[in-house]
Amino acid sequence: MDLYYQRLEIKWGDWRRQDGTNTTWQEVLENEELTKAWAKKMKEDHTRLARENLAVDILDSTLPSHVFRTLETANGFQEKLKRSADSLARYRNWNIAHADSEAGSSTRSSRSRESVPPQSTSAKRPAPPPSGERQSKKTKTVVPSARQALLQRWSRACKAAGAPPVRIRNDVDDQEIPPLDPRFIYIENDFYLGILADEFEEDEAYLAGCECVGPCEGDCNCLELISDEDGPTPAYDAEGLFRLDRSVVVECNKLCACGDECSNRVAQKGRDVEIEIFRTEDRGWGARSLQDLPKGKFLGLYTGRLIRREDAANLSDSHRSYTFDIDSLDNGPGVPDDRRYSVDAHSFGNWTRFVNHSCSPNVQVYSVMWDSTPQMNRPYLAFVTNQVIPAETELTIDYDPKAAYDRGKRRRPPGSKECRCGSACCRGWVAV
Ligand SMILES: C[S@@+](CC[C@H](N)C(=O)[O-])C[C@H]1O[C@@H](n2cnc3c(N)ncnc32)[C@H](O)[C@@H]1O
Ligand SMILES: [Zn+2]
Ligand SMILES: [Zn+2]
Ligand SMILES: [Zn+2]
Repeated sequence: MDLYYQRLEIKWGDWRRQDGTNTTWQEVLENEELTKAWAKKMKEDHTRLARENLAVDILDSTLPSHVFRTLETANGFQEKLKRSADSLARYRNWNIAHADSEAGSSTRSSRSRESVPPQSTSAKRPAPPPSGERQSKKTKTVVPSARQALLQRWSRACKAAGAPPVRIRNDVDDQEIPPLDPRFIYIENDFYLGILADEFEEDEAYLAGCECVGPCEGDCNCLELISDEDGPTPAYDAEGLFRLDRSVVVECNKLCACGDECSNRVAQKGRDVEIEIFRTEDRGWGARSLQDLPKGKFLGLYTGRLIRREDAANLSDSHRSYTFDIDSLDNGPGVPDDRRYSVDAHSFGNWTRFVNHSCSPNVQVYSVMWDSTPQMNRPYLAFVTNQVIPAETELTIDYDPKAAYDRGKRRRPPGSKECRCGSACCRGWVAV
């Protein structure tokens, strides 16, 4: 059973694939008793493993316990690699001398000998390694660091989405990469719908487009949906910057007659700014842009696995701190109560999951739709600058914007953390 992915592996007695295996995954878990019993067993397993071995990282308790073993083995492998690299280091000079004498290359050998420290030229030269350990000049195994491996995977995902790569930097300590679910999948632009995908199929038929030939302005149907008292106004200005005058935006969609160059298509085109995930002094990892940003600049979407709001409440605290409620349309017409969702960026997501809270944020989140209708209650969450931001300034959002209005009246919510945003009007706590 995999509670995180809400699926069950079934072993069939009277059915087999051609390759002899007889298991399939079933995505919906209807057996509540079985689910509870499994969750209890996993919790016990996790506690036992943690007691047995202090080196085991404590992951989410909904993950199957064998994930710990995998992690442990991976850690062990890295440790062995490091140890073998250290023990081979004392043969470094010997190897160079040996290789030189074979190759007979004067330039290389003279430079190499210069680099040999004086004591190693004495009689106490290290013994050569057994022949099997000799490193051939031609075969060089390069093991990518955890950071390189992660960036390679993420860069591929960014490139596929047409976005610049994300960088990682740590000037504070030696943590190479942020702590992540080992199965974390980077998604630049979309939700992972999982078992909720079927829920939206019927509604997709209600998606309608405009019939504009030329620019979408004035009486464009799409803009009408975002009209205010002064009539329909576009959400974006001529430079494609968000006017910051509304919390919900409807962009033109695949059924609209207008083309790709329509000014009402901004968030759907994705991120074009370079982002760096960096280690902060006191709030874990954070995110910043490597270029100066104007006010109203679209930065990216908060992506992840789409889950029901009620399921978000059952997640562990550390897991829940990476969820974001999609609540801007909750009370709209035609949205039934059971259509409330959250985005869970614990195991799927992108750089936005690293954006920290500030009581004076420089980034605002608005809801934007282009491939869903308001009734589906599944707008994307767009991150946009609310001021000019110089390059390398940390990007922050307000995790609880309603609290900004209730200032002074609201008590510190249970489970909240001490806020370290450093702002002059800091509330003192951050809801996580
Ligand atoms: C969505 S994560 C942000 C990324 C996180 N810093 C990391 O390293 O993965 C939210 C968590 O970041 C930390 N955090 C964010 N903003 C903070 C703030 N203003 N003060 C203290 N901790 C903060 C809290 O631990 C919170 O649970
Ligand atoms: Zn248009
Ligand atoms: Zn349109
Ligand atoms: Zn604060």
